[in-house]
Amino acid sequence: MKLAIVGTGYVGLVTGVCLASIGHSVVCVDVDREKVAQLQGGRVPFFEPGLDELLQEQVHAKRLSFTIHHEAAFDQAEVIIIAVGTPQGIDGLPDLRALIEVARNIGRTVNHDVIVVIKSTVPVGTNHFLSQIIAEEQCHPVSIQMASNPEFLREGSAVYDTFHGDRIVIGAAGEGVANTLEALYRPLHIPFLHTDIRSAEMIKYASNAFLATKISFINEIANLCERLGATIEDVARGMGMDQRIGEKFLRAGIGYGGSCFPKDVKALMGMAELSDYTFQILQAVERVNRMQQLRLVEKAEKRLGDLRGQRIALLGLSFKPDTDDMREAPSLAIADALLKRGAQVVGYDPVSMENARNFLPAQIELCESAEQALEGVDAAFLLTEWIEFTMPVFALLLQRMKVSVVFDGRNCLDAPALARLGIEYHPIGRGI
Ligand code: UGA
Repeated sequence: MKLAIVGTGYVGLVTGVCLASIGHSVVCVDVDREKVAQLQGGRVPFFEPGLDELLQEQVHAKRLSFTIHHEAAFDQAEVIIIAVGTPQGIDGLPDLRALIEVARNIGRTVNHDVIVVIKSTVPVGTNHFLSQIIAEEQCHPVSIQMASNPEFLREGSAVYDTFHGDRIVIGAAGEGVANTLEALYRPLHIPFLHTDIRSAEMIKYASNAFLATKISFINEIANLCERLGATIEDVARGMGMDQRIGEKFLRAGIGYGGSCFPKDVKALMGMAELSDYTFQILQAVERVNRMQQLRLVEKAEKRLGDLRGQRIALLGLSFKPDTDDMREAPSLAIADALLKRGAQVVGYDPVSMENARNFLPAQIELCESAEQALEGVDAAFLLTEWIEFTMPVFALLLQRMKVSVVFDGRNCLDAPALARLGIEYHPIGRGI
């Protein structure tokens, strides 16, 4: 099938590369000239495991190309997939300006029948709204049909997730559209769910909001475990063995971050408010998450007293491992809180140093290695469970650098190993 993909961010690029790899002919279009030039040169502008190799392979096989010209991308396309960003707007709801621009462009330029698929995460009703914009701009008497096809890719495992997803949701009005999209994805052998367009739009928000709820819930259980003398990992394991609950997303820690959960939780609350409904659970989910991000700071204050002048190393700065994404990373709130308390903060991340420089306040000293960051610190905060921090040798590094107190926001260090080395260990959710 001939496809055009608009937007070469995480979602658009991963989707384009993966759909090319199952045999489709894909043209990716983006307004960012520099990014397109990079992609034409075979370079992925962000860190995503496995994507570089697959991209180069598909470009080489001539199934994948990049352009800044929408008209050229749409020229032959049977399906146009829109995956442009929908960042949080000032009212908490997504900013749809980029999408509206694409819709106008489609209306003005497409001169053959086409299916327009919205993959960007958009409020319920947006497909309908965009179809009106396309119709207003439409210059040629052709059929332009809409579909909602939300993605469920995780950053850091987006390529894997594309090939091993749990479901492909297709929200469409007509059977013809649904059948075409099913044919497009059939080689992936992932179960399909056909719904109406609005339900498909809602599935994405409901899924992310539910996962965020699971995280805030387990974090509150962890806080209670600390007070009542229970161990969160055992509790989560016991809960997760019940198939009605499920074992995933029960890892307690310093709260969720990233470009999706915080934004989508806010957007769903915003949608509810516009419908004259208060989404009370999500209000609590957000509140708990904000509080949880500061748990390590509270623990450090309790253990070390006044943090003024104390040197603290933040290890892992991205919002989770295997990504260089710093958006809404807990490290930002933690760094801010430590600085406010007068601490001297140093940071290190194996991959996201460049982004960290742009996101973190200038007072934070960024180091080239964990070793350098740990030099002369009063305490270390482990914020992202990068593999290099979870290896047994990491405990030896802590010992070598004479780190005496560690606060682990991801519960990923080996407590007995640290105890043997004489390092004081403060994880989350383990009672005394
Ligand atoms: C999330 C969803 O998992 C994807 O399905 C969805 O497609 C994506 O958002 C999106 O909307 O585009 P992502 O934000 O990449 O993916 O990251 P996750 O792996 O879901 O982690 C989100 C946050 O939750 C991270 O900060 C992570 O550390 C935290 N988390 C996750 C926990 O604190 N505990 C857990 O048990 C799991």
